Amino acid sequence: MGAIKVLIDCDTGIDDIIALSYAVKTPDLEVLGVTTVCGNLPTEITTYNTLNALHLMGRDDIPLARGAEKPLERELQDAAYIHGNNGLGGYEFAEKTTKTPVELPAWEFLYQVLREQPEPIDIIALAPLTNIALLLQKHPDALKLIRRVVFMGGSLRTGNPTPVATFNVLADPEAAKYVIATKIPFVMCSLDCTRGSYFTFEDLEATKQYDNPVSEMVRAVTRFYINSTKNENTVDSKKKGIDIHDLCTVMYVTHPEFFQGEQYFADVETKGELTTGFTLVDFEDNLRKPPEDKTVLFLKKVDREAYVRCFMDTLALY
Ligand code: BDR
Ligand code: CA
Repeated sequence: MGAIKVLIDCDTGIDDIIALSYAVKTPDLEVLGVTTVCGNLPTEITTYNTLNALHLMGRDDIPLARGAEKPLERELQDAAYIHGNNGLGGYEFAEKTTKTPVELPAWEFLYQVLREQPEPIDIIALAPLTNIALLLQKHPDALKLIRRVVFMGGSLRTGNPTPVATFNVLADPEAAKYVIATKIPFVMCSLDCTRGSYFTFEDLEATKQYDNPVSEMVRAVTRFYINSTKNENTVDSKKKGIDIHDLCTVMYVTHPEFFQGEQYFADVETKGELTTGFTLVDFEDNLRKPPEDKTVLFLKKVDREAYVRCFMDTLALY
């Protein structure tokens, strides 16, 4: 089988940049374009980080489109407390790219690329779903041009930063609700799953065997992330490593055999007093939805060792 064609939407971001380093190097993917959105930091910063990340990774050839500056109906609550004020834990690119984003906004760029493809393709969404909701609102026919949305976010009952909501849903719950309600095939790479996607401190140390600038970047950005995530909650503070949520999500596309998941009906709470951003996953089938409404493949577990090994093998290619 040839490389799987994908589009990636991100808010780079510490785990986003690690995910990108895998996505643009693995021979299993062909990245047709990258789009940026506000989330971890405002779009200005996530765009700067993503353009320079692609440059560092030797992939200036991949077009980038800048997306939404704010969530659909809210103001951005960013995650600088996790990713640092520059989104990369203070890491600075040694060499800056001169490349600029394409003229089109993200949702128009996505639509253009999707229409050029002979078959529906995957969108990997590593950020709040604002750009994807705008794409589907402005171009409803895009629905049949997308094979599935593979999304980092959602959970059965855990959360970050609230007890029940995951960041990428909480930052734009209306967008997540809209996208899921279209019944597009949707893979939810949940927090339950990505909590098992941690790199131990030994794993991070082991990246030193690959003496290249991308490997150095991985160690530099995670230095900050180790401490910032520890402050988030007691689960994270007790962890023997750090979760690389977005990398885990990309790896589902190349290695679904590393994952366990099941098909459910799901929805998003947008008006809760305590639970805004909660993903309601009908785990026990209380709602008795018909099979055509169970459009969410909920990923609950990853084979951590296989996933770490696979990332290391890709890092070695730089
Ligand atoms: C998700 O939220 C963001 O902070 C990360 O980049 C990741 O996409 C983890 O909950
Ligand atoms: Ca992200």
